[in-house]
Amino acid sequence: MAKTWTGRFKKKLDADADRFNASISFDKKLFKYDVACGLAHTKALAKAKIITKQEAAKMASGLKRVLKKEKTIDFNEYEDVHSAVEMELVKLIGETGKKLHTGRSRNDLVATDTRLFVKDEITTLKALVKKLMKAIVDLAAKNTKTYMPGYTHMQQAQVITAGHWLMAYYSMLKRDLETLECAYSRVDVMPLGSGALAGSNYPIDRNLLAKELGFARACSNSIDGVADRDFLPDFCYFASMTAMHLSRMAEEIIIFNTIEFSFIEIDDSFATGSSIMPQKKNPDIAELIRGKAGRFFGGLMASLTLTKGLPLAYNKDLQEDKVILFRMADEIKEILFIAEKFLRNLHFKQERTGKHVENSFVYAVDVADYLVKKGVPFRSAHEATGKLVSYCIAQDKGFADISLAEAKEISGKFGEDIFRLFNAKSSVNSKLTDGSTSEKEVLKQIAAANKFLRA
Ligand code: ARG
Repeated sequence: MAKTWTGRFKKKLDADADRFNASISFDKKLFKYDVACGLAHTKALAKAKIITKQEAAKMASGLKRVLKKEKTIDFNEYEDVHSAVEMELVKLIGETGKKLHTGRSRNDLVATDTRLFVKDEITTLKALVKKLMKAIVDLAAKNTKTYMPGYTHMQQAQVITAGHWLMAYYSMLKRDLETLECAYSRVDVMPLGSGALAGSNYPIDRNLLAKELGFARACSNSIDGVADRDFLPDFCYFASMTAMHLSRMAEEIIIFNTIEFSFIEIDDSFATGSSIMPQKKNPDIAELIRGKAGRFFGGLMASLTLTKGLPLAYNKDLQEDKVILFRMADEIKEILFIAEKFLRNLHFKQERTGKHVENSFVYAVDVADYLVKKGVPFRSAHEATGKLVSYCIAQDKGFADISLAEAKEISGKFGEDIFRLFNAKSSVNSKLTDGSTSEKEVLKQIAAANKFLRA
């Protein structure tokens, strides 16, 4: 592979060591960013009068031609993307091209290329997360009257609506968006001009470079500039958190899709069959979303370990950052993309979810609160309701099956109106707090979400 640094060597690099050392197989993904850095650097070199205006123009047009040639370049000839861009430029414009690397190093260059890549990925990811959030909101809007049990400890707890349940996942993804914003602000810092580590011997205008490349600012310490890879765990943390959220949702969907639950129906176009059991309709897509979460946690751990104990400044270990980063970026995009499509092909079976909250003990808190409204202290109301539940279980009955006389045996405060409590709609709409499951509150959450997603 062609090299930019052969001068002090008496021998060629061993072929296997060369292959092991090279990053071109993956860092060619940074090609357009490397050219962009070259173009910005050319301007800075001209401004500092290190090259003439004519040379700058020649270099800039050469770099643009290099960019256009991307498909025809034989990248395997080069050690890395930086050598590829520089040497292709020299091939096109000759001696002037050899001035491109004046006052810069591959160390500040690769850090800048990688940050540009991450910034673009974050922009793409924000759109993908928002698209998924919109699918959730749309499904929630169809289900503000879909009553179902809400669970704690995987035991039926209180009545909620499927819309409310979905909006919980919307809230998680909204936090993921905030994580992305935070990751963006931290990666939006430009290392170029840091040189190998000590800075540059030329008066390169780093603010000009930052502006040209669209960074918020230039980094303030050249050693940190080339050594900092914090943006990698930041990115992997976003991916891990998002994947973890999606795995929770996937798990619930898998449960809701069982015959035992039958809360939802997955469209045939998003379900799979069994090679032996003809009756099967499997939720493979949800299972894969659940299963892939582990890979992201692995990436996060790898990203942290990469810089653990790593001395300043640049070390070749850092080349591995891209292997982790590119895989994480592709995989998180893939699951966000498929999760959106999957949700758009799933519907709640309102009649079935409703069955699960008919004459069930999910109304127990409402019963206790009924007694509180009749003047019973909550702890005593809880005790009495517990006794009522225990009595019903012993009789193999639901709340609605007992007589008022039986209820009165437990508390004299029970009246005929207690039977009005055993209704999903009124239970849901009796919730008065902001963010609760009542239809009015869920509609408020949905309206706020739509407003946010439109902005
Ligand atoms: N391929 C290298 C990387 O990805 C580029 C920087 C090389 N710098 C060096 N000092 N060898 O990190």
